[in-house]
Amino acid sequence: MKKNTLLVTGGRDRETFDFVNPPLTRGSTVLHESVADMRERVRRRNAGDDGEPVAYGIYGTPTHQAFYEALTALEGGHRSWALPSGLAACTMAILAYVQQGDHVLVPDSVYWPTRRFCRDTLPRYGVSTTFYDPRAGAEIERHFTPTTRVLFLESPGSLTFEMQDVPLLASIARRRDAFSVIDNTWATPLYFQPLKVGVDVSVHAATKYIGGHSDLLMGTLTCNERAWPRMRETLHHYGLTTSPDDCYVALRGLRSMAARLAQHRATAEKLIAWLKQQPEVERVLYPADPDDPGHALWKRDMSGASGLFGVALKPGPSERAFHAFIDGMRLFGRGYSWGGFESLLIPMSPERTVVPLPYKGWLFRISAGLEDADDLIDDLGAGFARLRAQA
Ligand SMILES: Cc1ncc(COP(=O)(O)O)c(C=O)c1O
Repeated sequence: MKKNTLLVTGGRDRETFDFVNPPLTRGSTVLHESVADMRERVRRRNAGDDGEPVAYGIYGTPTHQAFYEALTALEGGHRSWALPSGLAACTMAILAYVQQGDHVLVPDSVYWPTRRFCRDTLPRYGVSTTFYDPRAGAEIERHFTPTTRVLFLESPGSLTFEMQDVPLLASIARRRDAFSVIDNTWATPLYFQPLKVGVDVSVHAATKYIGGHSDLLMGTLTCNERAWPRMRETLHHYGLTTSPDDCYVALRGLRSMAARLAQHRATAEKLIAWLKQQPEVERVLYPADPDDPGHALWKRDMSGASGLFGVALKPGPSERAFHAFIDGMRLFGRGYSWGGFESLLIPMSPERTVVPLPYKGWLFRISAGLEDADDLIDDLGAGFARLRAQA
């Protein structure tokens, strides 16, 4: 089946569902027929069987299972799981594969809270991190040590949108006996299936496009067969799950994601075409744009693009002018998330410790929402007028 069909049908082929949508089952306790039944369910679970019926709510209700099935089919993976935030999924995807004395590789362009976790928290467990140039190809080899257990990727990178050579990096990680993990939030499971090119774990902040309505906080993990046993053990031992209500909302989000994403991208492209004509704009950071340095990799690996992009201004405007540009926006909200129906515009100050950023002027990021693109352009136009007035 094509991916758009999987989005609509995934997790629905269950004999027990009369309605289109799965039941919203809230539950901790599961009742068993007999002692033999109790023992059998626990035995199956301990033997690695993730199927139903489960022995306890922490292993997932039918609502969880419906969402997991849909996501696993989209990603072409073995098993999926949901956690209370995208950040929790990023950090657990690392923790699952490391122990004291290990080393992880993380791109310099990574989502800042993931950087903070690697920098401040992993050392408490005796795990060290090397940040690497996100544009590294085969030369990533020189950063591997005998204790490197995780190669983390985020493509395109948070805020600055560097594309990574995912198949190459994943193959190197595999050869070096490390697990490769990718934050795949920007591309969504619709436009990129990293497991199909050799990555072991695909992570999403389902908070963004999967939820799509700015009313959900959730992270997801999809593993291949190699990565699942350690992940499964870690999730169960830490006792990590999420609410069935959230899984229901996330599954509902998947159903309309293709239609939303097509509109997000169409609007992003209209805004980008307009922005490129503004004399203050140095460059737009969006791998689907033919002028972007990551365009060739994007074209090779991804089948579409979402509506999140960055803008680098030329040096010149004062801080006051830049704030006036952002503060006066009427349609673009000032909010730290993205992927919802509402447009957002935020200033960016990315932290880099390996490769200094080439941009000398102000940076901002736009999440193109579902409003009419012409209205959004009017809002941006008024913003540039404020920027010029301050100058
Ligand atoms: C690339 C990326 N990964 C992960 C996350 C974390 O998601 P959440 O906000 O659900 O913790 C974010 C959130 O902004 C993000 O931008």
